[in-house]
Amino acid sequence: MRADAPVLIVGAGVAGLATALAAAPRPVRLLCRAHDGVGSASALAQGGIAAAIDPADAPAAHAHDTLVAGAHHNDAAAVRWLTDAAPAAVAWLEAQGVAFDRDEAGTLRLGREGGHGLPRIVHAGGDATGAALVRALRAQAQRASHVQWRGGVEVDALLWRDGRVVGLRTRDERGREETHHAAHVVLATGGIGNLFARTSNPPGADGAGLALGLAAGVRARDLEFVQFHPTALDLPHRQGLPLVTEALRGAGARLRDTRGRPLMDGVHPLGDLAPRDVVARRVWQACQEHGAWLDATAITDWPRRFPTVLAACLEHGIDPRTAPIPVTPAVHFHMGGLSTDLDGDTGVPGLHAVGEVACNGVHGANRLASNSLLEGVACGRRLGERLARLPWAARGQGAARWIERGPPLDPGSLAMLRQLMWSAAGPQRDAATLRDALRQCGRWHGWQARLAEALLLAALRRTGSLGAHWRRDALAA
Ligand code: SIN
Repeated sequence: MRADAPVLIVGAGVAGLATALAAAPRPVRLLCRAHDGVGSASALAQGGIAAAIDPADAPAAHAHDTLVAGAHHNDAAAVRWLTDAAPAAVAWLEAQGVAFDRDEAGTLRLGREGGHGLPRIVHAGGDATGAALVRALRAQAQRASHVQWRGGVEVDALLWRDGRVVGLRTRDERGREETHHAAHVVLATGGIGNLFARTSNPPGADGAGLALGLAAGVRARDLEFVQFHPTALDLPHRQGLPLVTEALRGAGARLRDTRGRPLMDGVHPLGDLAPRDVVARRVWQACQEHGAWLDATAITDWPRRFPTVLAACLEHGIDPRTAPIPVTPAVHFHMGGLSTDLDGDTGVPGLHAVGEVACNGVHGANRLASNSLLEGVACGRRLGERLARLPWAARGQGAARWIERGPPLDPGSLAMLRQLMWSAAGPQRDAATLRDALRQCGRWHGWQARLAEALLLAALRRTGSLGAHWRRDALAA
């Protein structure tokens, strides 16, 4: 069966949805694994979306904090563009129907998170910001006449003809294949958390889009920079862990060791609100010893402000209003990815990437809190508007061929790979462990192992510590 649309977008998180909406009136087809379009990491994002909205704030201050958190490995011009675009992104989201939390006077309530010099996090539903965004954008996309949905499908190959990507192949749950032809293909497939044994990401964040882009010849950038969120709920024997938002620390919660002593005292001037990589390493260290806890018992107004965390804790027998929450670092975000510019251009004709799967330089070596929804919305809109203007290329006449991602690992090997990645490429790394992990990966056949190898190699080559990439064997400068 053949199907045609000028633009095919793979992934229905905020980046894919914003791209689709902004591409109007150009017809787009949105392809995603879930039937109802849910299941993205965007929908799990809690804290919110960072924007210099307060009169005391400025995009330049937001840019400064983004660069400091990113260890100045960021592309400074890209950071300036993103932070300038943030207030308009929030206004656009409101126009799409997102009801951000406001106070009695109608002013946006601004939260604070790690690495931010002042409160600038706009949120919705307390700590359910991602879900509110995805719900509103999905409703808009389902109403939009230029957007066609195709849920319940997996994209496993790109179609190549006359030197460009001209479509892709999907497979549904019953194994039925379909070829989709297009002038432009957009990968908006999210991150790689499920290559690791502990992650705050949903199961779909498995690196499949990244692997496909690399197979098509897109250059990888900064693969070694993986962000570990310091506070996921520490549930034994589970891979996917509920997030315990950093906004709790912004509201006064404190990290403590097993004897109740503050964990972050003397570690960083911002204490519990130090950049995420710094806090994650401290929590990791405490977890290697006796464990780490987030004491949020002083917080009032739990049901209004933090309903998602409250529900997750209660579900596992912890009442955070009266008892500290056991926490662990977990893979949360991939700063690296398919190398693109701010327009989502991958350098491979016909193929674009946006959101977490892409690396356009805005996050540097460590993403600033609540800049990911912002990137998805701002860059998605920018790419969509560009796609609306790009030529709707005619199909070429040359011979077509498939660029395949390749077969997946068997479940047993995948479980072992996740453990290996957690211990070798987790919050602390060294050359010997990385080399051993590379050797082990070489014994496995499957695209996840090839992707893991690329990440391990990148981590091995960066011999110094920078941002989220921490080499315990780095020589002190
Ligand atoms: C959080 O709420 O702690 C996570 C927000 C983010 O990923 O930036």
